Amino acid sequence: MKGIVLAGGSGTRLHPLTISVSKQLMPVYDKPMIYYPISTLISAGIFEILIITTPQDRPLFEKLLGDGSKIGCHFEYEVQEHPNGLAEAFLIGEKFIGNDKVALILGDNIFYGTGLSNLLKENTNPDGGIIFAYHVDDPERYGVVEFNKQKQVISIEEKPKEPKSNFAVPGIYFYDNEVIQIAKNIEPSKRGELEITDVNNAYLKAGKLSVRILETGTSWFDTGTFTSLIQAGQFVQLIEERQGLKIGSIEAEAYKSGLIKKKELKKLAKPLLKSGYGKNLLCIL
Ligand code: TTP
Repeated sequence: MKGIVLAGGSGTRLHPLTISVSKQLMPVYDKPMIYYPISTLISAGIFEILIITTPQDRPLFEKLLGDGSKIGCHFEYEVQEHPNGLAEAFLIGEKFIGNDKVALILGDNIFYGTGLSNLLKENTNPDGGIIFAYHVDDPERYGVVEFNKQKQVISIEEKPKEPKSNFAVPGIYFYDNEVIQIAKNIEPSKRGELEITDVNNAYLKAGKLSVRILETGTSWFDTGTFTSLIQAGQFVQLIEERQGLKIGSIEAEAYKSGLIKKKELKKLAKPLLKSGYGKNLLCIL
C-alpha cells in the first residue's frame, strides 16, 4: 500500500502564523507538524509516500524531508494548485498510486496511542474503503458517522448542524485502487470542494465501506486552530518529557520498523544532539 500526506490547504484559521509559511511546517512542540502524519504512515508499514503541498511551499518540504532515503523510505512530491478539496489528492496522485491501494492522511492530523500501529497495519489491504471513527464532544466540526444497532455505518454527513452521533471521522483513510475512479466521478460540493465524504458515501452506497472505532485510549488532534495547535504541542511535550521517548519522530519510527539500523540512527541523531532531539533518539537504542 502507498501513502499520501495532504499538506496543502490555506490554513486561514491560523493566520497570521500561516500567511507566509505552510501550516504543516508549524512546530508541534519539537518537530514540524508533518513529521506526525508521516510517522503514522511509517508505523502502519507504509514507506512509499507522496507529499502534496501548495506550489510555493514545495521547496521547503523538499528541503526538510528530501527523498526519504535517509530513513529508508521513498518520498515523492506533487503540488495542488488550489485547495480544491481532500478528494483531489487521488487525482493529483493517480500516477504515484498506479495499481496499488492507498492510504490518505491529512498533514495536520496527529494520532497517538498504544495499539494504533497494529490497528492500522491490520487495515492496509482493504477491499473497498476503511475509515475510522472517534468519539468527540464537537462532532459538528467534522464528518460524522451514523451507526445502526448492529454498529454498521448507515450514513456519513459532512459538518452537520445536527449530528446523528458523536463519532467524527479523523483524517486517515484507507482505500483500494477504485478510489481514483470514484474521485474522478464526484462533483464539487456547494463550498466548491471535492469532498472526501462524497468518496466515502460512494463506497457506502456500493456496500464497500467499513468503519473501525478508535479506542478511547487513542489520542487524535486536528491542529488547525490556535488552541488545538498549542494543546497538541503540550500533549507531546508532556509525554516526551515523562518518557524520554519521541512521539511523531520519523527517524524513531523508521528504526522501529526496521528500515534503518542502529548505525544509521546514530548518524541521524548526531547533528540533532544540541537541541535535545538527538539525545531522545539515542534513548531508543
Ligand atoms: P482544513 O483544515 O480543512 O483546511 P485548511 O488547512 O485550508 O485550513 P483553514 O480551514 O484554516 O483555512 O484541511 C485539512 C488538511 O487538509 C490540512 O492539512 C490541509 C489539507 N488540505 C489540502 O491539502 N488541500 C485542500 O484542498 C484542503 C481542503 C485541505
